[in-house]
Amino acid sequence: MSDSPARRVILGVGGGIAAYKAAELLRRFTESGLDVRVVPTASALKFVGEPTWAALSGQPVHTDVWSDVHEVPHVRLGRHADLVVVAPATADLLAKAAHGQADDLLTSTLLTATCPVVYAPAMHTEMWLHPATVDNVATLRSRGALVIEPAVGRLTGADTGPGRLPDPDDIAAIAFATLARGSAAADLTGLRVVVSAGGTREPLDPVRFLGNRSSGRQGYALARTAAARGATVTLVAANSQLPDPTGMTVLRVGTTAELRDAMIAESRDADAIVMAAAPADFRPASSSSYKIKKADDGSAPTIALEQNPDILKQLSAERGKPGQVVVGFAAETGDASRTVLELGRAKLARKGCDLLAVNYVGEGGAFEGTENAAIVLGADGSSTDVPRGSKERLANVLWDLVLERIKRD
Ligand code: CTP
Repeated sequence: MSDSPARRVILGVGGGIAAYKAAELLRRFTESGLDVRVVPTASALKFVGEPTWAALSGQPVHTDVWSDVHEVPHVRLGRHADLVVVAPATADLLAKAAHGQADDLLTSTLLTATCPVVYAPAMHTEMWLHPATVDNVATLRSRGALVIEPAVGRLTGADTGPGRLPDPDDIAAIAFATLARGSAAADLTGLRVVVSAGGTREPLDPVRFLGNRSSGRQGYALARTAAARGATVTLVAANSQLPDPTGMTVLRVGTTAELRDAMIAESRDADAIVMAAAPADFRPASSSSYKIKKADDGSAPTIALEQNPDILKQLSAERGKPGQVVVGFAAETGDASRTVLELGRAKLARKGCDLLAVNYVGEGGAFEGTENAAIVLGADGSSTDVPRGSKERLANVLWDLVLERIKRD
């Protein structure tokens, strides 16, 4: 991760079958330049052995407090960590952490850690839904820990339901976002947010379309960071190749008209809306229900276009809920007579939104080649510079600014 190349992360591994997926998570962490110490429980080592953790982390691995006692390892590890991630967090580990028990190196480290702590639970559905676990999770969250919602799906046996370990990519994204923010507190709890992502496609015929190259990554980062901060999230994804993130509602759309309908319906009771998608501005005036064939005389068809609705403008004008905060994105190059910021200010006023994240995409400018650098302009005249950094970092700054505005109302 470009933000924090040598930050220290403790990966606590609980004794569940999903421990093997934590090896994948560990690789994500080390590939991102993080300095990772793995602290498995004794039962975790029954699933995945110590050599795997040592080889993948490049660090010695201890599980009890009796090795290197002179270094007081649980205090040293806890004190120096920038983040602790527990994956899989079993029902037993959550219970011990909630009650402050400390009978091995991991649980002792959890008591000495002052940094953010993220738990990625994995257990059978009955255990996750048991009132004891529900209470333990609530206790941990009330103390500022981030307990990720488990994924729903096939569990170890034939059973299905909530309790699967979230995908290692999802856990890694949440971990990076938490590191970038320096806090695991769920400060968006109680808020409902809607984020659009990806690029819309306008069909010409059943096999061709007009579209754009938007990958959807910034929108997905916004949705994931909001969910990690406790918001109830709906992600409206237009043609993105990215897999559905866990812990949120994902609606898939194709065209700009479908995106607009979904955004308007979802915005009705939303506290904040972010238009990170790239909607196609034009669509073919008519779309053929048959594949358009080449003409024998070598002529090419003329395609008439018509303008698509401006979703951001409509959402800003017709707020679904009083006090709702509406955020847009703009990629600008500047032109002969106006700077990027002037164009950004003009677009903010034209769209009528509360915040506009302006990316500079031209040559020779301060932000050249840094697609995640932005200046966030506020309708109140404010301007927030977000220097080059990860997409999670820009997402977190945007949520900070959204939260400020919600609290102000
Ligand atoms: N947007 C939208 N509906 C559209 C086009 C854009 O809601 N039909 C939103 C985008 O999601 C983004 C913002 O408007 O949040 C700005 O997008 P941009 O393409 O820069 O705006 P345009 O209005 O298309 O401006 P330009 O004329 O500069 O292309």
